[in-house]
Amino acid sequence: MLRRIPKKRALAAVAAVMGIAVWQAPSASASVPLQYTTHRYVGSAVAAQYLASEPDYRAVLTREFDNVTPENEMKWGTVEAVRGQPDWSGADAIVEYAQRTHKTVRGHTLVWHSQLPDWVSALPAAELRQVLRDHITTEVKRYKGKIRAWDVVNEIFNEDGTRRDTVFHQKLGDGFVADVFRWAHAADPAAKLYINDYNIEGINPKSDAVYDLVKTLRRQGVPIDGVGIQAHLSIQYGFPAQFRENLTRFAKLGVQTAITEADVRIPTPPDAAKLATQADYFGRLWDGCHAVSRCVEFTTWGFTDRHSWVPDVFPGEGAACLFDENLHPKPAYFRINP
Ligand code: G3I
Repeated sequence: MLRRIPKKRALAAVAAVMGIAVWQAPSASASVPLQYTTHRYVGSAVAAQYLASEPDYRAVLTREFDNVTPENEMKWGTVEAVRGQPDWSGADAIVEYAQRTHKTVRGHTLVWHSQLPDWVSALPAAELRQVLRDHITTEVKRYKGKIRAWDVVNEIFNEDGTRRDTVFHQKLGDGFVADVFRWAHAADPAAKLYINDYNIEGINPKSDAVYDLVKTLRRQGVPIDGVGIQAHLSIQYGFPAQFRENLTRFAKLGVQTAITEADVRIPTPPDAAKLATQADYFGRLWDGCHAVSRCVEFTTWGFTDRHSWVPDVFPGEGAACLFDENLHPKPAYFRINP
């Protein structure tokens, strides 16, 4: 059952009566911005570049969401592409925006095999361990108190549930996962620490592997607080089986879950039937998260078809977001915010 807790809606109403401008209704959107319709954090991935250069993009983001996740700006390949020459400009800009607009930040991501600088991949094991520790400590401390949750490790499993063959796994072994959570926790004890992956929406060998790992880490006292479920879906492959059951089994382990990167791609061009299926998928993600109290966040991977990773990676597919290229809300938006 969908739990719509109207407290944020009530706050918006009180603010309106008092003459406080909380938001401005656009002509074509629902009367209440998405962020005020739920007690879940409602987020979007954001690109610092567009935040700075596109006022309409910034306005919709500010109005509709109360969490932001830097899409690329906190990844190792961005913050230290060249050893010893850090670049925090994009990450700083997003964190400052979030502070100014009273949004939380989901940090993404500390340890990932992709967008990893070549100089890191080339390090021998002992040095890699030290450099990894320094990277985590430096980045987490830089934003201490300003990041609600971190995606500490990203995409460490194969589809069959075996560990992905990354430089971290090759050189440091399975145990690197427990280490990186401990290092992140030491750097900011208040931040919620997550493991994050795709294709773990339903119950399958990969989500089983995540489940087993989280269970083991919790037993060992490793500071892991949550499981990030990316939810990159396509209307071509059906909605994942046993989504709610999956959220529930993680909740029973005592950890939070979060929908961290939701989008639903469709074969282009979109038409009414495809958009209706997309709306149904977004709705089932939204309702499923609201049915499990420990599912605390619903974040989409970008909010506008104007800027989405999907067409670059899946030629012939796209239109995966809640808003179209002109920032008009799509049927999927009205499905979760009727
Ligand atoms: O910044 C450079 C730019 O200088 C250059 O001109 C341009 C030329 O291609 O590339 C730019 O970098 C691109 C970067 O996005 C920023 O736009 C990279 O090539 C491109 O590979 C990178 O893609 C990102 C991808 O992660 C990397 O694997 C996507 O934007 C981002 O949406 C995507 O996000 C991932 C999550 O982090 C993890 N889960 C899956 C999700 C989708 O793949």
